[in-house]
Amino acid sequence: MELPNIDIHRRRSIRRFSAYAVTLVLATLFFVGTSSFSSSPNNSGTQRTGDAHVHHLKRRNPPSAVGWHSRALARPTPAYDPQQADLVFGALQYTNVGTRFTVALFSPYYAVDAGGRVLEITASDFAAFQDVIQQAEALPQTGWGVDNGIKYENPVDALRTATGLSTTVYGWNTNTGVLLTPKFGYTTLPAPLQSLIGLVREAWEGTAPPGAYNQTLIDQIRSL
Ligand SMILES: *[C@@H]1O[C@H](CO)[C@@H](O)[C@H](O)[C@H]1NC(C)=O
Repeated sequence: MELPNIDIHRRRSIRRFSAYAVTLVLATLFFVGTSSFSSSPNNSGTQRTGDAHVHHLKRRNPPSAVGWHSRALARPTPAYDPQQADLVFGALQYTNVGTRFTVALFSPYYAVDAGGRVLEITASDFAAFQDVIQQAEALPQTGWGVDNGIKYENPVDALRTATGLSTTVYGWNTNTGVLLTPKFGYTTLPAPLQSLIGLVREAWEGTAPPGAYNQTLIDQIRSL
């Protein structure tokens, strides 16, 4: 009889197929497992260390100061006597037409914007701003250059605090943070600097033509 033979063949091929299927599933699982392990270290070890550091700092302080300038109130009395002891942070911009003042923060909650307007910023914005500043202070202090595709005429944002921040960033933009040259294991601009320059550039919002700036106050601050 032929039927039993066919059955045996079928059973054998079913067994063979099952073994093949199991092997395939295991092989797939193994491949997925190893590829997910091997896909993360695309960059150097120091890059990952840097990122982990930034992620740690990010988790610590979720609130953001984005929008601080539009939330700020003009200080009622125009006269403001900026004191070095109160100066928390200052930002300038180097351009091909010279250096211009961007912003200064003074404790307990004042900001002087790019137009020389004295603003009172909210306590939470001030704290969040300061937090990003502290994260930037923890980074290597150097000149960073971002490859934004524009070769010339990029402004340089200079960031300073009395407590250790002394950093410049060339070519900052919101589209890419890819550095012209990797530095200290970073291939992209460290996140605190990307955020901080976004914050300082808010100080240009709604600034009057340069002639209407309070240059007296700006010069006073720049001499601190
Ligand atoms: C500019 O700032 C100085 C110093 O705070 C102040 O005395 C002066 O009134 C300000 N000028 C204007 C037009 O607000």
